Amino acid sequence: MPIKVAPILAELRQDHRNMARLLSLLEQQSEAIFDEETSDLERMVDIMHYLTVYSDAVHHPKEDRLYAELRAARPDLSQGMGRVCDEHHTLSLQSAQLRDKLVEANSGNFVRRKEIVADALRYVGSLREHMRWEESDLFRRLDVMVAEGHDEIESSTLVDHRDPLFGATIEARFKALFDAIGS
Ligand SMILES: [Fe+2]
Ligand SMILES: [Fe+2]
Repeated sequence: MPIKVAPILAELRQDHRNMARLLSLLEQQSEAIFDEETSDLERMVDIMHYLTVYSDAVHHPKEDRLYAELRAARPDLSQGMGRVCDEHHTLSLQSAQLRDKLVEANSGNFVRRKEIVADALRYVGSLREHMRWEESDLFRRLDVMVAEGHDEIESSTLVDHRDPLFGATIEARFKALFDAIGS
């Protein structure tokens, strides 16, 4: 069944706003570790869990599908975007690694604080930079594709799962994080 691309793009932009909030919280918590203040490792684990199960597993594949559509339908709008899939791959490796380190630290195992802070801040920087590129460039190319008439894709080709934190129903796993960000 064909579905419209514009609402998918609106969802992707909303995902970015949600992810930006989580990255700010992750950054704050990382700085708290660095300053040896009390930091909330459990919330950091929750944030990284969300970013792996939703951003890496749903948001990025959805974008990959739209970028593939753009390449096929509008090669004239597709220059210089070859690295986007690699960036998604690298981000997913970085996020899984950071999540695992945080899980270790939160369960009382020794992990160097400096290492967590460095990894977290590097990850925050990479994901912010990636989202900036998409918003200032790649999403706009998709807007042009839609505006110029290529405005549908086949729904069966799209990875789509509901958002467990910012969606209509909050999964029990994310209740504490939901309360912490004050949605
Ligand atoms: Fe992306
Ligand atoms: Fe994105």
